[in-house]
Amino acid sequence: MPVPFIDLQRFEPDFLDRWMDRVRDVTVHTRFVSGPDVARLEARLAEAAQAPAVVACANGTDALQLALRAVGVGEGDIVVIPDATFWATFEAVVNVGARPVTVDIDPVDLQLDFDAFVRAVDAHRPKAAILVHLYGWGSRRLDDFRAFCRTRDIALVEDGAQAWGVTWNGRSIYADALISTVSFYPAKVLGACGDAGAVVCSSPELAATVRMLGNHGRTDHYAHGAVGWNSRMSGFDAAWLDLCLDYLDVRLSDRRRVAERYQELLPALGVHVVGPPAGYVENGYLNVTLHDPAVRPTIEAALKARGIGFGTVYPGAMSKQPGAVGHLVAAVGGAEADRLARSVLNLPLFAGMTDAEFDTVLTGVGEAVGAAGGTVDIHMAGAVDDGGATSAAAPAASV
Ligand SMILES: Cc1ncc(COP(=O)(O)O)c(C=O)c1O
Repeated sequence: MPVPFIDLQRFEPDFLDRWMDRVRDVTVHTRFVSGPDVARLEARLAEAAQAPAVVACANGTDALQLALRAVGVGEGDIVVIPDATFWATFEAVVNVGARPVTVDIDPVDLQLDFDAFVRAVDAHRPKAAILVHLYGWGSRRLDDFRAFCRTRDIALVEDGAQAWGVTWNGRSIYADALISTVSFYPAKVLGACGDAGAVVCSSPELAATVRMLGNHGRTDHYAHGAVGWNSRMSGFDAAWLDLCLDYLDVRLSDRRRVAERYQELLPALGVHVVGPPAGYVENGYLNVTLHDPAVRPTIEAALKARGIGFGTVYPGAMSKQPGAVGHLVAAVGGAEADRLARSVLNLPLFAGMTDAEFDTVLTGVGEAVGAAGGTVDIHMAGAVDDGGATSAAAPAASV
């Protein structure tokens, strides 16, 4: 039985009928851009995020750009970002006219390394930093990052594109951030029916600035207080997301159950699987396994031969991207992000995944590990740097 890396079509029995009703409603009332569907969604998102305000926007990349602009980042400012993230984090910094410094990751939680971050701040005096909550959890030093940035007057933007549903010490990961961003790209845990995003704000004032920037800098319909752009959410996306919120608890517990079963059962196969640090409840966005870069291609080939989808999220560090040339100010820290890129392999994980599919993946991984010559357990910090290239195998779907 083939198992996809991700399947977005596992709709609940009544979902499509309810969605058709919503399509009709939005269409009949031509509520195509912004409007009451978006306002209702923003209120529900703010409640779930335990935050004062949420502003919907066009996508997660715009959300980052809106957040950076709203905290005052502009031409020539230095912004620190982790070296392991999706390229949008890097792009957002450059697109607002600022200059990125990448910092290596902590090999334990695979998030931005706090000590290297402090060194980067001392060396480069950034105006802002972007802390990315990668893989469905966050940094074990989250409170340290927030406190340190407050004392050093650094605007901390939290890229929570992948983090909807994550909790930290019993509260939403978005709850105590200065400002954070969400992506509703369809493959996310809470995905839209197109591109969509949001900015979670710690004050109504920040929210007003974000809203103004994402609506042509409007202070009135034809009065413009700033040069912004159009980053409004469509009524269809808002209605879809609003409907999905009704199903989210079940989808989250489905994903978490699969994520936990991987974490419980993969070590017995000799596979190093990474999960959230203590204090987090993950959202089950991604399974994360790490392999010796020299054998990862063999495992990928064995999974492919068995029809088992997989991902390599992400196969290259930000500082190593060709597009970074001419923009990157410095790369601070060691080579953990690069090592992660060459080691990571993500197994199928999605809401609605069946037990039979899970068992197929587990058997297939056992066989793939066998094909690769047995135990492939590695630990990030102790991994041998063999200089090997990232596998050319393409993931079955993108997240
Ligand atoms: C960490 C991270 N940041 C930013 C983004 C950008 O979001 P979007 O694709 O909605 O623009 C993504 C989406 O994949 C992401 O994973």
